[in-house]
Amino acid sequence: MASDTLSITDNRTGKKYEVPIAEGTIKATDLRQIKTDAGDFGLMTYDPAFMNTAACRSAITFIDGDKGILEYRGYPIEQLAEKSTYLETAYLLLRGSLPSKDDLARWKNDVTYHTFINENLKGLLDAFRYNAHPMGKLISTVAALGTFYPEAKNITDPEVRARQVTRIVAKMITIAAFAYRHMVGQRYAYPDNDLSYAANFLNMVFKTTETKYKPNPAMERALDVLFILHADHEQNCSTSAMRAVGSSHVDPYSAVAAAAAALYGPLHGGANEEVIRMLTEIGSVKNVPAFIGRVKSGEGVRLMGFGHRVYKNYDPRAKIIKKVAYEVFEVTGKSPLLDIALELERIALEDEYFVKRKLYPNVDFYSGLIYQAMKFPMDMFPVLFAIPRVSGWLSQWEEMLQDPDQKIARPRQIFVGAARRDYTPIDKRP
Ligand code: ACO
Repeated sequence: MASDTLSITDNRTGKKYEVPIAEGTIKATDLRQIKTDAGDFGLMTYDPAFMNTAACRSAITFIDGDKGILEYRGYPIEQLAEKSTYLETAYLLLRGSLPSKDDLARWKNDVTYHTFINENLKGLLDAFRYNAHPMGKLISTVAALGTFYPEAKNITDPEVRARQVTRIVAKMITIAAFAYRHMVGQRYAYPDNDLSYAANFLNMVFKTTETKYKPNPAMERALDVLFILHADHEQNCSTSAMRAVGSSHVDPYSAVAAAAAALYGPLHGGANEEVIRMLTEIGSVKNVPAFIGRVKSGEGVRLMGFGHRVYKNYDPRAKIIKKVAYEVFEVTGKSPLLDIALELERIALEDEYFVKRKLYPNVDFYSGLIYQAMKFPMDMFPVLFAIPRVSGWLSQWEEMLQDPDQKIARPRQIFVGAARRDYTPIDKRP
């Protein structure tokens, strides 16, 4: 008879154990009963980088990496990218279901009217050096923003939490845009409440002398779709940081700053910049075969924007982004790097090296080209990723706080250091 248990024999002692299996998982703490003697701590699992450890149960984002499926709260990413807006998608992630007309109107209004930041925060931004990376400015300013709302510490009150969520989602575009304006030495442009979320961001970034900024509708929609695609991606590095830091019950601004810091790393939010560098280095379509040859030769060169830890199929976001890229290029003119990207993709998708390793374009392969065509400098790429990802981080934070299984994150270790020894006075040391 099949049973939902795992039978374990500890060959050190000959003892047998039955461990329940639920949702394709065993509980790591169930292994603690496996001991060699009463003084033994009990069996642990060793899993650096959490390659095979579920740290939570989550109802937010579903990914099937082999089939190339991504769903937010059950809705396929393709449908959301085509039919939804970023703010509606953020509502879906945060609240669990699509909003009614009234709910959406209220949410949009709340976010729109929270985009202004306290003037003192501008002083903080002004203190940065002219060439400070905008991501460093974003991380620090989000952390500082929390000091303006002492009530945010009260994370047990759902209403207080909801207020901070609205504030953070709203003010992200303002902080991100101000970080950009400081970088390029232009005076800050204030939010315009008549504009959509994406358009308002474009307004604060690109407005110059016009009294009313009017974004190009194709650019506004493209940015909104990119925001939808980047809103959540379950338990990645930055989301895990959000959950781990939030598990100490710190205020959400501090936890978002920590998550943004994790995103800043080149292995996470910085890959699209690497794609642009790679395409620029290749320089021309005729150099593509030689570059592919270098990637295959094992000299450590990677085809940036290809491959993914989870997706072993075409990243569903990459397909949508490719389409968006063409829509943007219709307005901006084609990026000279596009032909190189297309040729790389064509060869790689046919080449046995890439096929065998299931290496397909990921979300970053085309997103950098779009941001570049929109005239964003490369330093802004991770900032553009962080803006929408806050809705994912905050959804995961909210879920974590309401999950009775969760406690402060505290991994175990296998101690491999020196055995106990006595302190030697400095004049007696070799
Ligand atoms: N180009 C060439 N070969 C690759 C690539 C690539 N982009 N990615 C993986 N491989 C090869 C590896 O060399 C390895 O080959 P081997 O079996 O002969 O040793 C095999 O494919 C498996 O690769 P791993 O490194 O084990 O795969 P992992 O899941 O650890 O890595 C990662 C995933 C980091 C995304 C990797 O594919 C990569 O470095 N890609 C390029 C960087 C990139 O585009 N990152 C963005 C990811 S999307 C995001 O973070 C939003």
